[in-house]
Amino acid sequence: MAQLVFDENMVELLERLYATRDVMRRRRLVREALAPAPGERILDVGCGPGFYAAELLDEVRSDGSVVGVDVSPAMLGVAAKRSEGKPNADFREGEATAVPVDDGEFDAALSVQVLEYVADVTAALRELRRALRPGGRVVLWDVDWGTLSWHSEDPVRMERVLQAWDAHLAHPSLPRTLAPRMREAGFDDVRAEGHTFATAWLDPESYGAALLPVIEGFVAGREEIGPDLAAAWAAEQRELGERDAFYVACIQVCFSAVAAPS
Ligand SMILES: C[S@@+](CC[C@H](N)C(=O)[O-])C[C@H]1O[C@@H](n2cnc3c(N)ncnc32)[C@H](O)[C@@H]1O
Repeated sequence: MAQLVFDENMVELLERLYATRDVMRRRRLVREALAPAPGERILDVGCGPGFYAAELLDEVRSDGSVVGVDVSPAMLGVAAKRSEGKPNADFREGEATAVPVDDGEFDAALSVQVLEYVADVTAALRELRRALRPGGRVVLWDVDWGTLSWHSEDPVRMERVLQAWDAHLAHPSLPRTLAPRMREAGFDDVRAEGHTFATAWLDPESYGAALLPVIEGFVAGREEIGPDLAAAWAAEQRELGERDAFYVACIQVCFSAVAAPS
């Protein structure tokens, strides 16, 4: 399996992951950073199953609007359903590097855990800048997978699994280079705030525990791991969980900035 595929199967996994306490906390942090106001037009690039769109629609109210863009028709179908009956929600199929919107159409934009999957991040950042009016706000969120700290009594196998997991995306540590890339793409006042997601037990509401089946499924399809090794890795984690010895932590980074004058 090459990069993670956002098909029907992934929709199901993400629907579960995104309803967890940790991901709800992440959405709250993103909404606080974005600070949407009534009447604003908001663009969500890589909108996925549409949780942000649905929540932001409540904040921009009936005179504002939200446009969600995603490459995955499966994600867009679920996103449209989530905001069913809201005439100010619009979901469009499109690439982050060629967003199907007009220049300067939006007051604010967000892209949460999307750019790390996009090979040409600079092109995607330029598109976000193009879509915003001068002074418009952007919030980007990506995971630094290089900070993943995951306990195992078989550290060699853990290392192999995490190395294989790195292939699930284009940029395993995008936050490390995102700020200069944002400035280069035409954003001012770039800020970054890191947030740790950690759990010391197999809590299904935690990001780490909820990731377990996603990682297991992905690495099982990788030649260097395969189904047996993936199952043994996941079984150890569940067993550690039963003994309350499960531990995983990682840093995720929220970037915010303002579109520079054109
Ligand atoms: C990890 S999910 C995040 C979904 C959503 N932003 C959220 O946080 O709830 C990544 C999403 O980015 C989309 N995506 C990946 N590469 C993309 C690209 N090049 N252009 C547009 N969307 C992309 C996927 O289809 C998927 O829906």
